[in-house]
Amino acid sequence: MKSSSLQKRLGLGLTLGMTLLWLGATVGAWLVVQHELNEAFDSALEETAQRILPLAVLEISNREEPAEAQHIATLKMHKEYLTYLVRDAKGEILMQSHDANPKIFNQQPSEGFTTTEKYRLYGASALRGTLFIEIAEPLGHRREAAREALFALLLPLLALIPISLLGTWLFVRISLRSVLAYRRAVEARGVGDLSPIKVAQLPAEIDPLADAVNHLLERLRKALEAERSFTANSAHELRTPLAATLAQIQRLRHEAPDGPLQVRAAKIESALRALARLSEKLMQLAKAEGGGLLSEAPQDLIPLLAHGVDEWNHSSGHRVELQLPAQPHVYSAIDPDAFGILLRNLIENALKYGAADQPVEVSLTGDALLRVINGGPAVPESVLQHLTERFVRGHSEISGSGLGLAISKTIAQGVGATLTLASPATGRKEGFEVSVQFCAHGQ
Ligand SMILES: Nc1ncnc2c1ncn2[C@@H]1O[C@H](COP(=O)(O)OP(=O)(O)OP(=O)(O)O)[C@@H](O)[C@H]1O
Ligand SMILES: [Mg+2]
Repeated sequence: MKSSSLQKRLGLGLTLGMTLLWLGATVGAWLVVQHELNEAFDSALEETAQRILPLAVLEISNREEPAEAQHIATLKMHKEYLTYLVRDAKGEILMQSHDANPKIFNQQPSEGFTTTEKYRLYGASALRGTLFIEIAEPLGHRREAAREALFALLLPLLALIPISLLGTWLFVRISLRSVLAYRRAVEARGVGDLSPIKVAQLPAEIDPLADAVNHLLERLRKALEAERSFTANSAHELRTPLAATLAQIQRLRHEAPDGPLQVRAAKIESALRALARLSEKLMQLAKAEGGGLLSEAPQDLIPLLAHGVDEWNHSSGHRVELQLPAQPHVYSAIDPDAFGILLRNLIENALKYGAADQPVEVSLTGDALLRVINGGPAVPESVLQHLTERFVRGHSEISGSGLGLAISKTIAQGVGATLTLASPATGRKEGFEVSVQFCAHGQ
């Protein structure tokens, strides 16, 4: 299952929750507001009727012909908001406001509040139920007020949703900063780095996890160290008895008369030499897998390289050609011993497996790319892929243990460099190329 982002989940969840709560609160508030508005409007309506009624009674009783309806003239023509009718008990209109439409009123005058489709009506009576006044107020006005109140309550939600999303996103991001730092610290680890991971102030929920990881790392480190020191110690312990046996067998070979005994002694001697080489390679591998591949101060690779190549040239009849960059120094944080082991294994291979009539080209560029190239038939891709594994060898008559490239690769990984094999060598039709890209250090 794909893991989902805590930030996204919290952002959406909190925003959704807040929106729902807000909507609930809005509905509640709106109902209360509507109720109060109705009450206020009703009381205004009632008040107006009570005010007009005595005036109307006075006016009508002063008339000469009381039965005639009268439109009340206004001082200025305007659209009336409240309209009223004054009728007698039979429903005859005695007086009406100038805009009043008799159709909107009840057939028979009645007292108290009534609601029709479009109007709210209020009726009151005077002179013992012989004179009625009714006032009509269009409902549209109340509805508009209620609608506006609803909008006023809902409008902030539009702004609140993005603010809540952004706020949660930012807040979670800030809160999880130490967790992200922890993740980066884990990601930035080199392969061989098993020291405890220290990150300040992790959240209480995650802190125990970090502790557990550190415990695990510690146990892993101890187990690996035990394994490594066993390899290194065994290889070291083998050295002396191997050397002693080798000396004995050499003496035996010299002393033995020519014949089958000589041949057998020579075979034992070469087997012992192979064994000594294997134990030497095992020690190198143990060192490559152990810590301490990085040096404290950046090392200048140029003198290290020149020295290494020189050593080989003395023993191999000057077949190694060295190409150095124009700049005087190339720094990288690799332990000089580890660099020596890496270089020795690569040059040894190139001399051993490369075409004997072609030189071995060793070059270093200004941005710390080391290349060892030799001639000879190209190695097929399928074989090439596995050569850096332990004890894997190509189809070769030449003896070897299959550890050289594994050692080189382990050292490269341990110092954060990348080792790549290529065959044929770049820009050639045949040959073999090993390139190691170190992390260059400016100094
Ligand atoms: N420069 C090279 N040119 C051609 N083939 C090579 C080269 N380097 C390595 N190989 C092939 O890769 C195989 C593995 O090399 P590696 O150095 O790991 O082991 P080895 O040389 O056989 O033994 P060891 O180095 O442990 O004594 C070799 O057997 C060889 O076939
Ligand atoms: Mg080798």
